[in-house]
Amino acid sequence: MPDTAAPVLLNTALGHVAAIPPYPPGRPIAAVAREFGLDPANIIKLASNENPMGCSPKAMEAIRASATETHYYPDFDCFELRHALAEENGVSFAEVLPGAGSSDLILQVARGWLDKGRHAIVPQYSFAAYESCAKAQGSSTVTVPAKGWDYDLDALVSAVTDETGALFIATPNNPIGNVVAPDALEAFLKAVPEHVLVVLDEAYREFLPVEQRPDLKRLMATRQNLLVMRTFSKIHGLAGLRVGYGIANPSIITTLKTLQMPFSVSAVGQAAALASINDPAFTQAYHDLNASERQRICAAFEDKGFDYVPSQANFILFHVGDGPATAQALMKRGVITRPVANYGLKTWLRVSIGLPEQNDVFLKHLFDLLPQGSRAA
Ligand SMILES: Cc1ncc(COP(=O)(O)O)c(C=O)c1O
Repeated sequence: MPDTAAPVLLNTALGHVAAIPPYPPGRPIAAVAREFGLDPANIIKLASNENPMGCSPKAMEAIRASATETHYYPDFDCFELRHALAEENGVSFAEVLPGAGSSDLILQVARGWLDKGRHAIVPQYSFAAYESCAKAQGSSTVTVPAKGWDYDLDALVSAVTDETGALFIATPNNPIGNVVAPDALEAFLKAVPEHVLVVLDEAYREFLPVEQRPDLKRLMATRQNLLVMRTFSKIHGLAGLRVGYGIANPSIITTLKTLQMPFSVSAVGQAAALASINDPAFTQAYHDLNASERQRICAAFEDKGFDYVPSQANFILFHVGDGPATAQALMKRGVITRPVANYGLKTWLRVSIGLPEQNDVFLKHLFDLLPQGSRAA
């Protein structure tokens, strides 16, 4: 039916909320199958930086076992998971808070730290939820231009004013894949005035080699007004269960917990996350596979003349000329990638690193579609 025939329905949402652009998620396999008449079994999703190996067998066992208890509300305190996370990270129980994905914590930061009188500082290329959560609070955002593909850390510090409520920064960063080296990160955290809550998003931390991961204890000693966010959606392969966590001083954690909806972290999610922490061999196997496949895909890009941005995460940003059109053409062939036009990167696409056979299919279709490669201007 044409849009003109649609009735105009009343929506009395606040003006600043109605103006927020909807989040453009990676297309689900079932939706692409319906749209293009494809067999879901033949569709490869490389759009949302998920774990192509699935989740740990131990987590799957925990999911099955906890599924018999779904008539009970989950433990609001996430007691066991919180203890395990505290132990794993060498912090106290009071310094850790699980959330329904790290997105839940981003939202609580916006609710607790931002409003009309304050703004959030976000880097030019950074996870879209920072801005949308800030805007939902009526807060403005100050976007600090990148320096090439890297953060301009000095400019981020210089953007701080008395009205800055929070500053968001991710390393490795989505959708670029760049990282801030631990020394530079520490200097940056020292330089940001203490009245600003710095949200350090480490959703892709585990894809870094161990020696390149920032030292949590050092960071926390450097700065009190700091929230480190992690997730079980990426290396742990539990995106569908929505579990993330924050680490901060107990006062910040108490505020975040007060703001959270009760029982937002499901019992099945808590059980699966706990089991996954106890299966480091699984996450290590994915880390290793991701590193070698990333290298292989980058070599193929180089060979065929595609510009790409070196990545330290489980995805790669690469140049195609027309991102949305190429994503659409790949989707028709059963490969879902992620257009990044919403980040102002219309000529680029982001591809998540899949299993070797999935990556082969992706590369074959890409090279069929763009045999000449694609160079950025
Ligand atoms: C940088 C970054 N932070 C946070 C998230 C959200 O993760 P979660 O599934 O834990 O909400 C994502 C998801 O893609 C991300 O890329």
